[in-house]
Amino acid sequence: MVDVLLGLQWGDEGKGKIVDVLAPQYQVVARFQGGPNAGHTLEFNGFKHVLHQIPSGIFRDDILNIIGNGVVLDPIVFKKEIDGLAKYNLALTKNLQISKKASIIIPTHRLLDAAYEQAKGEAKIGSTLRGIGPTYQDKVARVGLRVGDILSPNFQEKYGKLVAVHKVILEQNNFDYSSVLPQAEADFFAAVDFMKQFQLTDSEYAVNQALTDNRKVLAEGAQGSLLDIDFGSYPFVTSSNTMTAGACTGLGVAPRQIGEVFGIFKAYCTRVGSGPFPTELSDETGERIRQEGREFGATTGRPRRCGWLDLPALKYAIMINGVTQLVMMKVDVLNIFDEIQICTHYQLPDGSTTEQMPYDLCDTAVTPIYKSFKGWRADLANIHSFDEMPAELATYVSFLEETLGLPISFISTSPDREAIIHRQAVEI
Ligand code: GDP
Ligand code: IMO
Ligand code: MG
Repeated sequence: MVDVLLGLQWGDEGKGKIVDVLAPQYQVVARFQGGPNAGHTLEFNGFKHVLHQIPSGIFRDDILNIIGNGVVLDPIVFKKEIDGLAKYNLALTKNLQISKKASIIIPTHRLLDAAYEQAKGEAKIGSTLRGIGPTYQDKVARVGLRVGDILSPNFQEKYGKLVAVHKVILEQNNFDYSSVLPQAEADFFAAVDFMKQFQLTDSEYAVNQALTDNRKVLAEGAQGSLLDIDFGSYPFVTSSNTMTAGACTGLGVAPRQIGEVFGIFKAYCTRVGSGPFPTELSDETGERIRQEGREFGATTGRPRRCGWLDLPALKYAIMINGVTQLVMMKVDVLNIFDEIQICTHYQLPDGSTTEQMPYDLCDTAVTPIYKSFKGWRADLANIHSFDEMPAELATYVSFLEETLGLPISFISTSPDREAIIHRQAVEI
């Protein structure tokens, strides 16, 4: 079976940590969408490492890590990531496969991302400027480059054709590329050459062979469900399907092969970049969450917007993903509060209330309706089982499980691999 692990909010839920925690139970870990816009943080043995494109199973022994066809891959970032992993002595050429069908981010995609954002002015999406949108645009327009193309004698020519089109668009947008492009292109071609030492494969065969052999596959989502291109707060979204269905198209597996779906969420909400955020706290409480949770982007360093947990949004994400188990992250961040709020409904401008996500969330100011909980005000560092939880936390967890209709399998209490409260004993 392919189990899927994905974020249920606006990204940065802590997916990297949980993939790393669960990885020993799997033989394959695969990324299926997104690209270097992702920043997945892992902490263990005193090390902290942020991965952008490489799957979070890379630090565990004997796991095949796959960058699937649904990913947009930046060779320059890839080379940097590999160089950054050198100190860990990992068998990277053996344990990493890259789909030949993954799309390639070229330097002008990054410049186009900046040009498009600049042109949007106030309405900008707050993109990570990693070239994600323009690369998916070219994929869908059927003019993009793919990883397999780097092995073709015509690669330079194909590249040249695409860059010529990009330059016209950049010029139309009065975007000066001449000062940065030559160096970026030199880095790009060096990185493309570097990539050739890795296994570039039709990775859908590897994934399906693993399933035939009864080896377990974990699909690692990037971004979050509320940034999904179809179901997120469009247009303030990323350019891929971040939901469970994306794992099928992004790896080449049939829907009936999907097993467990782990939905990862923080005990509060954050969002980086623009777009609607009903429970956002622009006050001192929001600032306390940001400081306590160290809510600054793992990819861009930007401060994350913070707010209380939003159940209409969470229920929506659970629904579109078919989540079977929940994982709640960063509960320790709420240790400092006497009172904790959860948004259970939205009030619409006409006074009615709803538990659903309104279509026009971008234009309609909804008012969150909150239920209040007493804080536990306790250190959770040495707690590893549900039975040991403070009573107030147990009440908070029971309320969520009842309202969401799903078990919370794990609760995370610090960035470290070992800091997990679990329902059943699992090997970590
Ligand atoms: P991802 O993109 O979903 O993998 O998440 P990020 O790595 O971008 O952001 C999650 C941040 O929270 C990282 O800095 C993690 O080290 C940290 N983190 C993960 N779990 C916990 C937790 O339970 N408590 C605290 N305080 N931090 C955590
Ligand atoms: P991980 O995998 C949080 C956000 C950006 C922006 C919008 C579009 O670490 O959870 P893009 O660069 O994709 O065009 O940006 O999506 N965004 C993320 N926010 N975590 C991420 O990834 C994100 N990847 C993109 O901030 O609002
Ligand atoms: Mg992140």
